[in-house]
Amino acid sequence: MEISAPQFVTDWKTGVVTGTEVQGVERRVSDLGGVFADEGAFSQLRPDRLVYRTACVFPVPEGTEGGVFWGTTFIEPGTVGAEYFMTKGHFHAKADRMEAYFTFGGTGLLVLMDTARNCWAEEMTPGSTHLIPPYTAHRTVNTGDDVFSFGACWPSDAGHDYDSIAESGFSARALRVDGIPRLVPA
Ligand code: PA5
Ligand code: NI
Repeated sequence: MEISAPQFVTDWKTGVVTGTEVQGVERRVSDLGGVFADEGAFSQLRPDRLVYRTACVFPVPEGTEGGVFWGTTFIEPGTVGAEYFMTKGHFHAKADRMEAYFTFGGTGLLVLMDTARNCWAEEMTPGSTHLIPPYTAHRTVNTGDDVFSFGACWPSDAGHDYDSIAESGFSARALRVDGIPRLVPA
């Protein structure tokens, strides 16, 4: 029986994925209008400044029932006024689908919000592991001075519902208050 090399390798310190086709998105300041609270501070940022990017492995077509996707998100350090750089955030389009997150490098927060708009957050540090419940919006925030990287594994039929967040946002924001990350009502 044949023993083969692994399909791909994830560097557990950095989150970099190699050895197979990796696809991702880049989100720059120009892609994130309306996401951050302080529009004056936002307008001062260079439009092409990178805020975060992903590097993902999609072994089956999007929407396939029973498959999984794998990927790393890298969030740059930075703030918009008092608000840390963060992802757009989403519910899953199939809202009952769960997701696993696990931190590689840096420090951050996982901000979660249920359908009743109750918001809470978990600290993310190297090795921390987070199981996002069904029907729960999720957004990640870089609260440190270095690149914050974390892995994700999610069902290939989960999809992303960005519109609900674009319309109503999260009910809390992660802000630097006296140098410390705080979750503050929006
Ligand atoms: O599947 C996930 O939840 C992650 O891979 C996110 O898509 C990634 O962190 C980027 O965040 P967002 O999709 O909210 O822009
Ligand atoms: Ni997700």
